[in-house]
Formats: sequence, structure tokens, C-alpha cells
Amino acid sequence: MIIEPRTRGFICLTAHPKGCEQNVLNQINYIKTKGAIDGPKKVLVIGASTGFGLASRITSAFGSEAATIGVFLEKPPTPGRPASAGWYNTVAFENKAHEAGLYAKSINGDAFSNEIRAKTIDLIKKDLGQIDLVIYSLASPVRVHPETGTKYKSVLKPIDRSFSNKTVDFHTGKVSEISIEPATGDDIENTVTVMGGDDWQLWIDALKKEALLAPQFQTIAYSYIGPKLTEPVYRKGTIGRAKDHLEATAFKITDTLKDINGKAYVSVNKALVTQASSAIPVIPLYISLLYKIMKEKEIHEGCIEQIQRLFKERLYTGKQIDTDPEGRIRIDDWEMREDVQAAIKELWENATTETLPSIGDLQGYHTDFFNLFGFKVPGVDYDQDVDEMLEIPELQ
Ligand code: NAI
Ligand code: NA
Repeated sequence: MIIEPRTRGFICLTAHPKGCEQNVLNQINYIKTKGAIDGPKKVLVIGASTGFGLASRITSAFGSEAATIGVFLEKPPTPGRPASAGWYNTVAFENKAHEAGLYAKSINGDAFSNEIRAKTIDLIKKDLGQIDLVIYSLASPVRVHPETGTKYKSVLKPIDRSFSNKTVDFHTGKVSEISIEPATGDDIENTVTVMGGDDWQLWIDALKKEALLAPQFQTIAYSYIGPKLTEPVYRKGTIGRAKDHLEATAFKITDTLKDINGKAYVSVNKALVTQASSAIPVIPLYISLLYKIMKEKEIHEGCIEQIQRLFKERLYTGKQIDTDPEGRIRIDDWEMREDVQAAIKELWENATTETLPSIGDLQGYHTDFFNLFGFKVPGVDYDQDVDEMLEIPELQ
């Protein structure tokens, strides 16, 4: 079929298999040009199909020749209806990994469920024995609790008082003022339940109980901090409470890994266009200014550049891992540079519908958004008929 983008608000309902494949190939090539990493050999990535999780899987496999198991929640194709992007990304990843002689198998299902956890544990037991790295990279608006069956929803709201600021509709380029009402009722607890560290700990506890964690095992989850500008809706909002919980959970997990000399870390990553971040108000305007400044200063990175740097310059240096005073690994260091933030602050004041196309990288935002779904990818012929019914070769 011929597949075209069909967007509804912050999501795109279609995805292009060739474009997704090209994105994955570009990431693999990037990792190959950066040279070998003396890294992990057996890796589980939870949230492995898009964004930072996919980049982590690619970096493990093609940087360090790791066997990888990827867990994710993606929509398979049906005749005439393309799969979701993460499905096609995984098809391309597995094909390339297998060609390179690397073990790569995948599990599609709800990572918050006991069923998927048990399935993953069985697969690790059967095929890998012990693993040396777990990347925890889920971004989800909902979580069904595995014991109670209660469904929790996360929200993106400020706490205590409403927050007004500028935002941009990246489809139209219209800059407008928005006001977000503060969290009410159980909003904070619910968001912490979905996006905090509870599920991460359940995974590591379950793997540990089955003796599936190798000596010196490490596990990494991803967090975000960002500037003062976005604090009310991000770091000091409901999602920030969840990130506080995730960061605190790293210490709790590390405590449980003492006997195998294992460690849990949170890595604070850069703001990037992903399916998760386009849904947060104010952030798209911030990202479009951030991209502009970071590209001008030649320090712009995407997910793959970020994770390559995380592995090569933070996790697998052969030396002690550098952290901030709160124990977090920082690869948002370039985003948070004083000169970068000062420039954004100034641009922010002047950002209007009229000025943004020149003072911000709205075009870059727009392209990155479509790229997530395999559209507007250089080198792909979108007039060609493509097979939408691709299978993931080693889907369990
Ligand atoms: P993403 O939306 O690209 O990836 C989410 C992944 O989780 C996908 O593989 C998806 O299939 C999987 N997933 C979602 N619900 C699932 C479920 N119930 N069961 C199994 N798999 C499920 O998101 P992104 O941006 O890569 O986020 C990953 C982590 O990185 C999140 O913790 C996010 O907060 C963090 N982060 C994101 C930043 C950004 O700017 N995008 C910046 C810093 C941190
Ligand atoms: Na991810």
C-alpha cells in the first residue's frame, strides 16, 4: 500500500515501514562510526521500540555486540492498516541484528503486567542465563496495577497553582498563551504510580529472585529536569513528582543489589521530540528554541547520540561512574549549559507566531515529529508501494 501520515493532535495514526527502517539503519550506522564500546553483553530493554529505549537497544547491540531482549507495547499491522512505528522499528532492528549474528528477541505486551514479566523471565532463563544490564525506558499514560487490577492515569499538571505560559502548536506554528489548572484529587499519586519507580523495582526484584542478574549488574532508568521555564509543568509538576520517585527508587534498588555488587542509576537526558514529549504543553516551544541554539552551537544530539555518550563516556569508561550530588548521571549537561539556557530565555520573551519560524527551529521540530513515524525521512520514496504486513522475526 501507499502510506501517508495521518495526524490527530500529538499523534500520528500511521507509520511507514521503509522510513522506520531507514531511521534504524541511520542509528546503527552512527553507532558503528563511533567505534566499539567495552559494554554489556546481555541486555534487557523495557520500552525498547522507540525513543531512548530503542537507541539503548541499538547502542548495546551494535556498540558492544550485546544479545538483547526488547519489551514494548506496539500495534501489529492488519491488512490495509499499518502497524505502529515501534513495530516497524523492531522489525528493522531484529533483521539487522540477526544479519550481524547477534541474538535479538522481542516481547510485545503490557510491561506493567505480571504475565509479561513472567514471559520475559522465562525467555531470559531459557536463552541468556544471567543479564548484565536492564534499561528501563517506559513512557506510558496509564498503568494497570498487576496485583489490584486498578487502572491509574498519569497527568501533566502543575501543583498548587495554575500555570500560564506560551506554547506552540507545531503543526500550524501558532504561538498562544495557555493556562493549565493544578492537580486535584489523586492526580499526583496516580502519576507517581504510573511513571514513578514502583514498576522498575518490581522488575528488578523479580529478576533478582530468579537469580538472573549477573555480578556487577547495572540498571538504568531515564529522567528529565529541564530549565526554570518549564518547571511548573514538568519538574515541579505531577510528572516531576514521578521522576523524584523514580530517582529515589534507584537508591532502594541499589540497596537490594549489594550482594552481587550491582547498581541502579537514573540518567537525566536531554529534551527531545518523542511521542511522549510532544504531548506535554509548553515543552514543544521550549524544544524548538533549544534545537535552534544547540544546532547553532553544534552540540545538538538526538536519542542515539545521547545514549552513545551515556554508554561510552559515563557507564563503560572503566572508571567510577560520574554523577551529580544527587547520584544521577547527567547527559543533559549540554542542554543545561549556562550559555544555552541564557539564549533560550531571551528568545522565549520574543517568541510569537510571527518570529518563531526565524528565531526557533520549528521546522526541525516538525521534521523530527514526522520522522518518529517514518515520514519525511531522506532517501525514502513515499510513492512506492510498501508491504505493511511485516512480521517481527523473533517475536515471542
Ligand atoms: P517513547 O514514547 O519514545 O518510548 C516509550 C516506550 O515504552 C516504547 O517502546 C513503548 O512501546 C513502551 N511502552 C509504553 N507503554 C508500555 C507498556 N504498557 N508496556 C510495554 N511497553 C510500553 O518515550 P521516550 O521519550 O523514549 O521516553 C522514555 C523515557 O525517557 C521516559 O521515562 C521519559 O520520561 C524519559 N525521558 C524523555 C525525554 C524526552 O524529551 N523525550 C527526556 C528525558 C527523559
Ligand atoms: Na523509549
